Amino acid sequence: MSSLTVDEVTPEITYALRGAVLRPDGGDIVWAGDEEQATFHLAARTGDRVVGVVRFSPAPCPWRPLARSPWQLRGMATEPDVRGSGAGRALVVEGLARVAARGGDVVWCDARVGAAGFYERMGFTVVTDEFEKTGIGPHVGMLIDVPPSTAPRSS
Ligand SMILES: CC(C)(COP(=O)(O)OP(=O)(O)OC[C@H]1O[C@@H](n2cnc3c(N)ncnc32)[C@H](O)[C@@H]1OP(=O)(O)O)[C@@H](O)C(=O)NCCC(=O)NCCS
Repeated sequence: MSSLTVDEVTPEITYALRGAVLRPDGGDIVWAGDEEQATFHLAARTGDRVVGVVRFSPAPCPWRPLARSPWQLRGMATEPDVRGSGAGRALVVEGLARVAARGGDVVWCDARVGAAGFYERMGFTVVTDEFEKTGIGPHVGMLIDVPPSTAPRSS
């Protein structure tokens, strides 16, 4: 198998996997903010095949109102046949580094309960009780403090 790469991509590159994994029943796969200039999308690939996707965008953190520069993680999905091999981790690690380079101090997400253990492995903490997202299922709020970047700011 080709080695895994993670790169910033246009939103359109993420839609097929977003749809197949996160909206298999046909819900919206194009979301508000996808085309915002500050939003960035990452794709993990083995060769030409996209095996994982995620989006990061600046957004107020519901549970950290005083965060200076909060970012939301959304649309995290990997292909079922690569799960457990590090694609999800590679996407989160790269995303957190890019958020840090942009001066972000917190990343938060509404995590599906089934994925909360993954985010905990990535260093996130559960900060809410369970809540229901209509048509999707139970979630918990999670966040991670982003250490200041030592890399030069990209913007
Ligand atoms: C959650 C998801 C993105 C994880 O992706 P992945 O490619 O399997 O992640 P990785 O292989 O990089 O796993 C990283 C670590 O998390 C662990 N892990 C992965 N999924 C986990 C889960 N659901 N619960 C607990 N731990 C998990 C792995 O075992 C691995 O552990 P390690 O640190 O010992 O190596 C993937 O399972 C997925 O797309 N699920 C369906 C969609 C979904 O729920 N997305 C999140 C929406 S909020």
